[in-house]
Amino acid sequence: MTNNKMNQLADEINQLLSKSIPESSLNTNLEDSMRYSLEAGGKRIRPVLLLLTLEMLSNEYEKGISAALGLEMIHTYSLIHDDLPPMDNDDYRRGKLTNHKVFGEWKAILAGDALLTKAFDIIVNDDKLENSAKIKLIQRLSFASGHLGMVGGQTLDMQSEGEGTSVDIQTLEQIHNAKTGALLKFAVMAAVDIANPEKYVAEKLESYSEHLGLMFQIKDDLLDVYGDEAKLGKSVGSDIENDKSTYVSLLGQQGAEDKMKYHTDAAYEDLKQLPDCYNTDNLVYIIELFNNRES
Ligand code: IPE
Ligand code: IPE
Ligand code: MG
Ligand code: MG
Ligand code: MG
Repeated sequence: MTNNKMNQLADEINQLLSKSIPESSLNTNLEDSMRYSLEAGGKRIRPVLLLLTLEMLSNEYEKGISAALGLEMIHTYSLIHDDLPPMDNDDYRRGKLTNHKVFGEWKAILAGDALLTKAFDIIVNDDKLENSAKIKLIQRLSFASGHLGMVGGQTLDMQSEGEGTSVDIQTLEQIHNAKTGALLKFAVMAAVDIANPEKYVAEKLESYSEHLGLMFQIKDDLLDVYGDEAKLGKSVGSDIENDKSTYVSLLGQQGAEDKMKYHTDAAYEDLKQLPDCYNTDNLVYIIELFNNRES
């Protein structure tokens, strides 16, 4: 059941993303490079999480569509830049050659830049949202994406390269919270901004989203070592090659799995504490998915 709902939302997102980048009036073909990564077929977990949270809170996920599309654009830009040679230097992403391998490095940089700015354009032009809601979303998305969010986390990640075992666990948690957690937190909290539930509910959902963020990146670290390249659609072994600081390099496989379990239990607990009027089935399913995913 729940899986069907997720697939239905992911399909809707895919269709809208495909229509979101119109042909260039500048004759640049930059759009081909933007669309290449956008349509390469990611899991769409962030937009789906946003829409499922909003559906739970208000029964009208449609108001979250522009924030969901913007979020996926920013996530996609972060992957294009993450794969570039001066960063992780990876050749495969979403089952295809990375953006810079196909279009060249300068175009990959500019496609990323354009996806970042397009995200805000999509939210501003949403006629289903009040201006006050748009401002809240833009504020939250710019924070989550910027130097105190994803970009800050990516900076810490790069600074910690070559220190695969010497970074401490608090610093590693900070890197993961920022580089990956910030955008996942936005997914949940954008729904809170739109639906405006009572403060207690917002706090529980915020905590849930923080545990999800860590779960997601701990699993990503595990899959980079123990995952199957064909299922993942991206190269494994990248972290070891770059001597990255990860949960596996610091704590080993068992230590990383123990951390996974800790954040899984805590995320369930947050959902249990929500008032009975909310049907949490879909958000429970997300926890299971984050735990069991192989891609
Ligand atoms: C990969 O994210 C980057 C991380 C933050 C770990 P996803 O695993 O969600 O990648 P796609 O969107 O499905 O390609
Ligand atoms: C990157 O983390 C998170 C981003 C903000 C893009 P990783 O570098 O571990 O992501 P993958 O493994 O390349 O997808
Ligand atoms: Mg990286
Ligand atoms: Mg990477
Ligand atoms: Mg990784």
